[in-house]
This record gives sequence, C-alpha cells and structure tokens, in this order.
Amino acid sequence: MSRALFAAAALVGTCLSATPALARTAYDGVWLFDDTPPNPGVTMMEVTSKGDKVTGRVTTRWYGPVEMQNPRIEEGVLHFTARNINDREHPTRDWSVAIEGGKAHLKGRIWESEVDGLGRPGTAKDAKARAFRFADLPALGAPIPNPLAATPPMGWSSWNKFAEHIDDRTVRAMADAMVATGLRDAGYTYVNIDDGWQGKRDANGVLQPNAKFPDMKALTDYVHSKGLKIGIYSSQGPRTCAGYEGSYGHVQQDAKTYAEWGFDYLKYDLCSGEWFYADADTVKRSYHEMGAALQATGRDFIFSLCEYGRFDVGSWGRDVGGQLWRTTGDITDDYPTMARIGFDKNGNPGWAGPHGWNDPDMLEVGNGGMSADEYRTHMTLWAMSAAPLMMGHDLRETSAETLAMLTNRRVIAIDQDARGIQGKAVRKGGTMEVWAKPLADGRVALALFNRGDAAGSLELTTADAGMATVTNVEDAWSGQSTARLPAAYAVPARGAVMVVLTGK
Ligand code: GLA
Repeated sequence: MSRALFAAAALVGTCLSATPALARTAYDGVWLFDDTPPNPGVTMMEVTSKGDKVTGRVTTRWYGPVEMQNPRIEEGVLHFTARNINDREHPTRDWSVAIEGGKAHLKGRIWESEVDGLGRPGTAKDAKARAFRFADLPALGAPIPNPLAATPPMGWSSWNKFAEHIDDRTVRAMADAMVATGLRDAGYTYVNIDDGWQGKRDANGVLQPNAKFPDMKALTDYVHSKGLKIGIYSSQGPRTCAGYEGSYGHVQQDAKTYAEWGFDYLKYDLCSGEWFYADADTVKRSYHEMGAALQATGRDFIFSLCEYGRFDVGSWGRDVGGQLWRTTGDITDDYPTMARIGFDKNGNPGWAGPHGWNDPDMLEVGNGGMSADEYRTHMTLWAMSAAPLMMGHDLRETSAETLAMLTNRRVIAIDQDARGIQGKAVRKGGTMEVWAKPLADGRVALALFNRGDAAGSLELTTADAGMATVTNVEDAWSGQSTARLPAAYAVPARGAVMVVLTGK
C-alpha cells in the first residue's frame, strides 16, 4: 500500500470509528432515468452520503427537484419520504430505492403519479445537463386594471366533454353549432380550448400547438368570423394538469404567442405550479405575472384563474387581472358533485361583482349524467350565483330540451344581471333551501331548492325577498306571471323553482 493510500485508509478508519454507520453507500452518485412515464417525468436521482448522513433528491419534469426527507438505509434499501403537493390526506409519500443489477430501482408516488423506474449510473456532467432550471418569480406588481367582464363570462369549453381529445376541426364545429343553435345569440360568446392543444417548444422557446391544431391563427380567425371569441389554456407550472407543456419559465413569451395567434381568453391552471408556488404569496405572484404579461400584449384577454378555490382567491383575484376564479375542484356530470359545488363551494358572495366572478366550474348541462330536474337545479344554482356560464357538452348534440334550458332568456338575465350580486341562501329547512338575488331593476330573484330525494313543497314569502308587498311573481323557467305568491310550491326531488318578484 502506498503511503498516501495508507493515510487515506487510516482516515476512513478514523471516520468510521467516530461515526460508525456509513462511509459511501451503494446509492451515492448520479442515476439517470431515461424512459420514465411523462408524469412526473423522473430524469435523475442524486445521492450523497457523508458519515452516517445521507442526502438526496429526485429530479422530475413536473415538479423539478423533489428533496429526500429523512433518507435512511434499512436492510440495504434506501427509504425516504417526499412532499406530496397539497394532498391533505397524504402530505408526504414513502419512496424507496434498491440497487438491482447495477441499476437503481426507484419506487414512489407523487400526487396521482406512480413512479417505478430503473436508473443507470451517470456522471457529475450528466447531473449538470439534467439539472432543473428554476424560473424567477417577480415581486408582486401593482393591481392590474380590469375593464372586462362587467357580467359573468358565457361560452363553451372543451374540457367537460372532450378532455384531451380536442382538435381544430371540433373547435370549428363548436363555433358553427354555437351560431346554428342560437346559443351565440342567447349570449354565449367564448369558444375555449382547454388542456390538450400544446405541442413542444421550438429552439427559441416558442410553444407550438400539437398536430391536432395545425394553424392557430387560422382557427382564431375562423371563430372570430362567426362573431365569437376564442380562449386557450395553460399553467404556471412546467406541466398542465393533463401533462402538457406549461408556461413555467416562458410566461411573457407565451402571453405574446397567445396574443399573436389572436386569442381573447386564457384559463391559467395551477396544476404542477402548486409545487413551486405553495402559499398565498407565491400563488398570487404567479397569477400576477401572467396577468401583467397578458396586459403587456395590448390585447384584451379574459383571465380565468384556476386554483381550485385555494388561498382565498376571491380576495385578490381582481388585483392579478382575473375576471373569474375557481372556487372548487373539478365538477363532474353527476348530481352529488354538482350539488356539493353549487350549494356549498360556490365562493364567498362578498367577492363577486362586475369584473370579478366566483367560478364554481363549467356546466355539465347536456352531457347526460343528470336528470332534467337535476340539470334545472344546476342552471338555477349557477344563475342565482352569478356564475360564469361555460357550457361543457357537444354543442352538435344539443337536444331541444337542453337548448331550451341553456337559452332561457329570463334565467340568463338573472345570471347576467348588471348589479352582479351573487345570490345566497336566506332560509334553510329540512331538505329545502330558499335563495335570494337582488336585481338591478329592484326586483328580486328567489330560488327554491329541494335537496332531498323525495318531492316536497314549501311556501315562498315576501320576506324571503326582503319585501313587504309583492305585485308580480314571474316564474323564471316558464315565464308565467301571477299577481301574488301561491300558498306553496311543489318541488320535485333534487329539483328547483325560480321566480322573480316585483314589489316593495
Ligand atoms: C384541471 C382543471 C380542469 C381542466 C383540467 C385540464 O383539473 O380544474 O378544469 O382544465 O385541469 O387538465
């Protein structure tokens, strides 16, 4: 043994005796993952041990570096926990790594993605090449002026019906159907492409659409030629919720691209951005960054904030340039989910009003998962809540019944009332709820909901509308008027009645 080697061995020996556990472990070094599933897209694992202390991280495309918490080697297997975004039930998840045939077998889970992949040994140079590039988040700028959406936005979005299976041809067909059905003339204006349009960035970082959208400018021109407006979708994270390219690190560039393509509306969905922006301050700044970028394009954009109702978004949604903000997780086409959102997760009415609206998510009317009474409740709740009315079905397959429901001008007028008050419950009893929404012309819309599974009946009173006397009662759904309130209203199971009272 050379003197130098002997000295080194002696040193290791000294260290070992001082810290008896580990020297270098079999896990130390860089491990490269090449073909893991895109979500969360593990690219690399780095492990370092010093004495008995192991540290490490797993780098992903969706979330950047995921630090190993409490890494420890037990029976030859490296175990650690990892932060799990905002999952309250599972704030962390257990991960493990085992060396198998010279490769690192990594297993774990983050949010909805299972990780199970083999990593090959790499070098420090590889680690540098695969290092995640963090984007700077600017300080919060001044509130962004917001002249748009004096009433809740109305239109259609691709997500509820088509999810990722959306393409240029279908968007054009929706624009055509919007006109042919009379939905445009009833007030539905925006044709919005949700997740699934994105391709890759070019060498300059400019995001390209995928093959299903061959020419975005031609598409926006087409939709505009129909007297409609058109919307697009992104995330402030590296990946959107469905795993497509997000705007992380490209915020200003993407805003410019949307403006050049001719879009009028952006839904900006937190998704993987939740990893990087995990508190009210950073989430707000991340929305402000895009709000300011849209404003800087000089083009009018409706800015739709999709953050699932977190961080009291209504209290700052306007300041970041938003005209609507989600109050909830995703709606699905079933009564329990729709009712849970519509009754109980439709946002604080105090934040709603002209140019800023609580968004309990898009409509499911026409998708077939609810009965006519349940869909009527859905529309009634959204109209009483001054909610944005974004249809979510295949407009080419709009039945006469669905069309009548979506184009009822009295119901739309309640939703679109210029005063912009979000209605709320004024009385609850058993399965019944009475809601009131004061209107700009002094009338008051009242809704009577039966949340139970059996038909019921209840009276409405002038006091429900804050009135002493009533001179006219108009049924919003049928249009029939009477001079006074009836003794009681029969309401079907899971159904609704909506009337507009004139009086004092
Ligand atoms: C999230 C949103 C949905 C939809 C999908 C797209 O779940 O809340 O409205 O935009 O992402 O992936």
